[in-house]
Amino acid sequence: MAIAILMPGRSCSELLDALRVHSAVPVLDASQPLTESERAAVRLAVVWYPPTGFEADFPNLQAVMSYGAGAEFLTQGQPLPSDLILGRLVDPHLRQQMARYLLSIVLSEQGRLTQYRQLQSQSTWQPLEPLIGQQIGFLGRGVLAHYAGEQCAALGYSVAYWQRQANPDHSDSCDGEKGLQTLLSQSDVIICLLPLTDSTRGLINAARLSHCKSTAMLINVGRGGLVNYSDLIRALDQGQIGQVWLDVTDPEPLPSDSPLWQHEQLRITPHIASKTDPVSAATTIVENYRSLQTGSGLLNPVNRLTGY
Ligand code: GLV
Repeated sequence: MAIAILMPGRSCSELLDALRVHSAVPVLDASQPLTESERAAVRLAVVWYPPTGFEADFPNLQAVMSYGAGAEFLTQGQPLPSDLILGRLVDPHLRQQMARYLLSIVLSEQGRLTQYRQLQSQSTWQPLEPLIGQQIGFLGRGVLAHYAGEQCAALGYSVAYWQRQANPDHSDSCDGEKGLQTLLSQSDVIICLLPLTDSTRGLINAARLSHCKSTAMLINVGRGGLVNYSDLIRALDQGQIGQVWLDVTDPEPLPSDSPLWQHEQLRITPHIASKTDPVSAATTIVENYRSLQTGSGLLNPVNRLTGY
């Protein structure tokens, strides 16, 4: 029995070390050539954007787990065999990083720290009114959104969530197109933390943006494919929305000739809002492996129908 790690273009040495400290389970770097018996031993593959057809190398594979919160690469494109259990990483480090990233933006923009820096350079003592109000609307009500929402609420923000499908367990969320329009029209900060699926691709488009407050700040930390970029630029240029932060783009990396780079009201960070920490992830991966061994599947399974 073994775990294989497969993350092309991303170093996995720290994760391999951390997993080896944690567990007696053999851990294999599947980007290196493996023997037939090593490949036959693999039961769990931990992957990040793996090549199509990778699963064929592991005849006894039972489960595939994303090395991140997003798992769209497991459910989109060529389908993985239906008997494979799919899962994603739900890890305390991921949600803390995300909450810190989001709060750092909300607090510094609301506190107008950039403008105070400019005023300081002019030796000017001038208190400014906050430009952004207190209402934060999350698109998505998954683990990351809910945790970040709780941290915002603890600082006194009013927090609301929108999810595509109604969920009786989430009384704090609205749903459906009408619910989305209401949330967009009421939010001072709109935080997009939706998974990328066939139903959410291009969700942030001209029609939706037309409901936003002209002063609203939109932060996309979900996936780049959630946004229609020409609609977004038009909405900014026409004053339908105040400013935008993008941590994710489509494609990534964002090409140097993209007009997004130079837009005055747009800020870009290179997909760093919440990066998997190998040491923290190793604990979660081992827990998942043990759960698999006892026949209980993965701890955070991905539903092939909904895509998350
Ligand atoms: C990062 O984008 C992740 O999915 O964890």
